[in-house]
Amino acid sequence: MNPTTDIQKRSIPFLALGGVWEQEDTAAATKVITAATGPSGNFFPLPEEADFQKALATHEGATHAVVVNSCGTALDLCMMALDIKAGDEVIVPGLTFVCTAGTAAARGAKVVFADIDPATLCLSPAAVAAKITPRTRAIIPVHFAGLACDLDGFARLNRPVIYDAAHAVGAKYKGRSIGSAGAASCYSFQSNKNMTCLGEGGAITTNDAGLAEKVRGLKTFGYVYGPQLRVTEIGFNYRMTKPQCATGLTQLAKIDRVIAQRLVRFQQMHQALEGVDEILRPAGIGPGHGCHLYVARLDTDKVRFTRAEFLKHLKEVWQVATANHYPAVWSWEAFAKVSYDNSDTPVTHKAVEQVMSLPLFPSTTEDEVVYIAHAIKETIAALRK
Ligand SMILES: Cc1ncc(COP(=O)(O)O)c(C=O)c1O
Repeated sequence: MNPTTDIQKRSIPFLALGGVWEQEDTAAATKVITAATGPSGNFFPLPEEADFQKALATHEGATHAVVVNSCGTALDLCMMALDIKAGDEVIVPGLTFVCTAGTAAARGAKVVFADIDPATLCLSPAAVAAKITPRTRAIIPVHFAGLACDLDGFARLNRPVIYDAAHAVGAKYKGRSIGSAGAASCYSFQSNKNMTCLGEGGAITTNDAGLAEKVRGLKTFGYVYGPQLRVTEIGFNYRMTKPQCATGLTQLAKIDRVIAQRLVRFQQMHQALEGVDEILRPAGIGPGHGCHLYVARLDTDKVRFTRAEFLKHLKEVWQVATANHYPAVWSWEAFAKVSYDNSDTPVTHKAVEQVMSLPLFPSTTEDEVVYIAHAIKETIAALRK
C-alpha cells in the first residue's frame, strides 16, 4: 500500500466500551431478571455472586474474591480494612486515575506520590522505598494500562500493598496471575474496561482470609452472619446486583480471548510505529500484558510542537480520537484541599505532558491500525514543517 495516496480519510472514535459484549451476555442478564421478577422471585444476588467470586478468584490466582460495585469502592474497603486514618501516609503514583490517591485522602491520610519507572510508567519500588517513613501504612501501585508492575520489588518493601488492578484483569507477572500479590488487588469492570458488569463493577482478590472476611462484611453494612446477625463495624452497601454478577460470569469466560484480540492490534500498532523517533512506544506489549490501554508518548524532547498541537491536528485533520490517561493526580482541583507530597517525581511530571492513549479496541481492524499509524506519521511530518 502506498500510504500517501491510498489511505482514505475515516473517523476513529475512542470507544466507551472496552470489551466485547455479545448475545450471551445479554441473555445471562435477561435470564436472571426474568426469574427475579417472576412468581416468588427476587433480586438477592446468590448464587450468581458466589459463582462469579469463585470464577474470578480462580482466574486471577487468588484464594478469595469479593465482588463490589466499583474499583473505587474496592479500594475504599481495603483502606478501611487496613484502618487507614489521619496521620497515616499512603504512597501512590501520580500518573493514575484520581481515585487511586483519592481513596487514601478520603480516610484523612496524607497522599505521598512516588515516581514512576520511565519505561513501564508503573510505580517504581525504588522510588517508593525512598519515600517510606514510620507513618507509611500502605502502598497502592497501579498495573498501568494493563502491564503488571514489579510485584517482586514491592514484596521486598515489607509494607501492606494494595494493587490497583483496574486495568489489569487477566494480566500476568512472570507468567503468573496477579490476583494473589500483596495484601489485595482491586479490579474495575466499568464500561471502558476489558470486561464489564453492565457498565459498573469491581472486585477485591486476596490470599488473606482475614482481609477477605473484613471487606465482605464492610461491603454489606458491616454485617457478620451467624446464629445471630451482628454489626461489628460501620460498613456500607457496596454490593453488585444479581444481573451484574450474571454478566460478570459470561464476561470473565471470554476475557482471555478479548485480551488476545487486543494484543494482536497492540502488536500491530507497535510494529507500525517502529522507527518513528518522535513517539515513545509502551513497554511490555506481549503475552501477559492485560492490553487495556495502548499509551504512547510524544517525545517532547525531540519535537518543537506540543502534545496539544499534535492531538488537535490528529483529530481535526485525520479524525483520530485519543484519550488522556492521565493528567497528574495533584493537578485536579480537589487536591488543593488534600495533604500531599509530590516531591522528587520528575518522571511523572514529564510523562503527564507526553501520554496519549491510542484508540485500539477488540473491534479495531488491521486497516484501522494502519490508518492510525499513518495519521500519526503524517501529523508529525505536517507539524515539523
Ligand atoms: C487506575 C484506575 N483506578 C481506579 C479506577 C476506578 O474504577 P471504577 O470506575 O470501577 O471505580 C479506574 C477507572 O477508570 C482506574 O483507571
